[in-house]
Amino acid sequence: MFISFEGLDGSGKTTQAQLLAETLRSHGRDVLFLREPGGTEISERIREILLDKKHLHMTQISEILLFSAARAQLISEVIRPALEKNCFVICDRYADSTTAYQGFGRGLNLETVRAINAAATGGLWPEKTIFLDVPISELISRREKSGLPLDRMESGGLEFFERIRQGYLHLCKEEPRRIVRIDGMRSVDALRQEIWSVLASTFTS
Ligand code: TYD
Repeated sequence: MFISFEGLDGSGKTTQAQLLAETLRSHGRDVLFLREPGGTEISERIREILLDKKHLHMTQISEILLFSAARAQLISEVIRPALEKNCFVICDRYADSTTAYQGFGRGLNLETVRAINAAATGGLWPEKTIFLDVPISELISRREKSGLPLDRMESGGLEFFERIRQGYLHLCKEEPRRIVRIDGMRSVDALRQEIWSVLASTFTS
């Protein structure tokens, strides 16, 4: 079973993805928790290049190819072997991030993005994707409170984030059976319960 979590930076998706992994483990399941970009030696090195603020001149096509290269390596080395062993794979971001950030956010041609995603994933998509939706104004105030510095991707500005959110909403409409939008403006525990009940039918089917 393959589940991914999507959302903007600071939406709380990582917390929820980790909580789901813990809950599944407490039910005796084998769970592999991964974050993108990363998860293999090659993918972690690509991650450093992608997030480094020195690389502000990176072209959009280099950016999408690097994210996709990191993913292709992760799929081949880690995700496919784990799924073959019947392990639960929970991924904090997957190829929908590429559609939302590089396609809608950066404005790359959506057909090109689709073709690159198809090549990088080899057609492997999660059974369910949880999109944690939080308004941009809330994300900004969370970020200000955290005091953390921005990485290269997070330096894109307000309109960039608004376009990404619209991209995710578009994907939810396009693939309503796979991608479930969850209103992220609730407590960690309320969200954990809702996500569990959304996924319960997937787990038992
Ligand atoms: P990360 O620190 O892992 O952020 P988060 O905790 O929000 O997932 O950084 C990943 C950044 O890369 C994040 O800003 C989203 C972006 N990204 C893309 O632009 N395209 C992609 O395909 C992926 C996987 C991530």
